[in-house]
Amino acid sequence: MAKSFGGNHVLRSVDIDLYPGEVVGLLGENGAGKSTLMQILSGGLQADAGSIEMHGKPICFLSVAEGIAAGVSFVHQELSVIGALSVAENLHLGRMPKTKLGFVDGSAMRTAAGRILARVGASNIDPLREAGTLRAGEQQLVEIARAAARDPSLLILDEPTSSLTPHEVEGFTAYVREARNRGAAIVFITHRLEEALALCDRIVVLRNGSIVSEGPARETSREQIVTDMTGKPAIYEHRPRHIPATEIALKLENVSDGRHLHEVDLEVRKGEIFGLFGLVGAGRTELLDLIHGVRKLKSGEIKLFGEKHVVRDPSVSVRSGVVIVPEGRKTAGILPLHSVRDNASISSLRRFSRSPFKNSSREKQRMEEFRASLGIRMASDDQRISTLSGGNQQKVIFARALMANPRLLLLDEPTHGVDVGAKVDLYSIIAREAEHGLTVVMASSEVPEILALCDRVAVLSKGRLAGVLSRNEMTEDHILTMAFREH
Ligand SMILES: Nc1ncnc2c1ncn2[C@@H]1O[C@H](COP(=O)(O)OP(=O)(O)OP(=O)(O)O)[C@@H](O)[C@H]1O
Ligand SMILES: [Mg+2]
Repeated sequence: MAKSFGGNHVLRSVDIDLYPGEVVGLLGENGAGKSTLMQILSGGLQADAGSIEMHGKPICFLSVAEGIAAGVSFVHQELSVIGALSVAENLHLGRMPKTKLGFVDGSAMRTAAGRILARVGASNIDPLREAGTLRAGEQQLVEIARAAARDPSLLILDEPTSSLTPHEVEGFTAYVREARNRGAAIVFITHRLEEALALCDRIVVLRNGSIVSEGPARETSREQIVTDMTGKPAIYEHRPRHIPATEIALKLENVSDGRHLHEVDLEVRKGEIFGLFGLVGAGRTELLDLIHGVRKLKSGEIKLFGEKHVVRDPSVSVRSGVVIVPEGRKTAGILPLHSVRDNASISSLRRFSRSPFKNSSREKQRMEEFRASLGIRMASDDQRISTLSGGNQQKVIFARALMANPRLLLLDEPTHGVDVGAKVDLYSIIAREAEHGLTVVMASSEVPEILALCDRVAVLSKGRLAGVLSRNEMTEDHILTMAFREH
């Protein structure tokens, strides 16, 4: 199997066998070719060379629909639920149950939806809810449920767990085991290596479009996989930093939004990397949104570098030097039809265009710097952003935030979908920018990430501040105990 885009050889003579009743972990760096390979198996793309056999017979799917008809279900890396439809409607797209009179049978659809959601451990999602109002993780579960409902013989899961909570991952895992026991062949793509080791029977590592290792999961290790993926081990060590106590960059006084957050007091110093941790529903994203200005303050005050920060909309925030990298690429507002360079420079157009003309050579140079330091894999920065691999899109969004030269950078789950090697690059860049005086507030659900990077962490619980831990008080135990205290 081989595939190129233009002169870019994305897959080079890949041979892979998948067996019924087996979970295969397909691992590799951002841009290694994982999604492309699965697109070819499922009929979304055509290979340039090579052939596919299913149940011993040669096949050639000319479309996704043909793949589905033959029993292939693909849960894509990007969220694709239709926001304006209900969960039940999303689960029945293209095959709505009808009444005798030919109308859509709403109650049959609801009951069926409840049953399907329960299979993937998501029975708490209301089938009548508008899908667009669900959290990213819940939307992910709806997509998994949609694939599950077809009882596929080949199930492809492209980073299905990136926004799931540990509890949701348990439900998901139970479903995958059930599907395997029923005899489905399953491909599981993930950047969470522990999950892959726990769930998969076999691990296949793809590097630069070729398979570099393959074997039973119980015979490999995290370190071995990282080395296979990148050619070198990925290590990031926290370097103790000295932050002058003098200048306060951000101060929240008794801040409430009237719904999710109550009486939060915080002080973040200039040049500090400040973590926000909490369980789902604790209010991390809501707090970032308040600081950013997309969520209204009900009471209390926010001060930015000593001045009252009055935000009516996010564009005011950008002007006062506050930039956010939101959770989930779809909501991060990429412009899918535009080039990588346009997407990267969109927040900073004002900076590059003192004159009415865009200063495109300066812009190109900055983009080139970030391409190198973040290892963004692309043929050229004229390429449409939607043709980049998922993790590389995330890196572009991150570059976009830094290109706006913020004073305060807000990050919401910044490394979702980013491979282990690139995570280390992102951490180094965040630390470097903080050394140069950038203040960073970072919400993360991954304790190791908080421990690797943050100087202090605020733990939220049910919309209230449970406490702030300094570097020498920060341990996994301590952080989690605090987060659970009110639950
Ligand atoms: N339609 C396209 N046109 C041009 N290049 C493409 C297109 N689709 C994918 N590519 C390129 O193919 C390479 C492999 O992309 P792919 O999406 O398969 O990576 P991946 O292994 O899934 O990475 P990630 O972990 O980031 O999702 C990337 O360099 C990407 O830019
Ligand atoms: Mg991918």
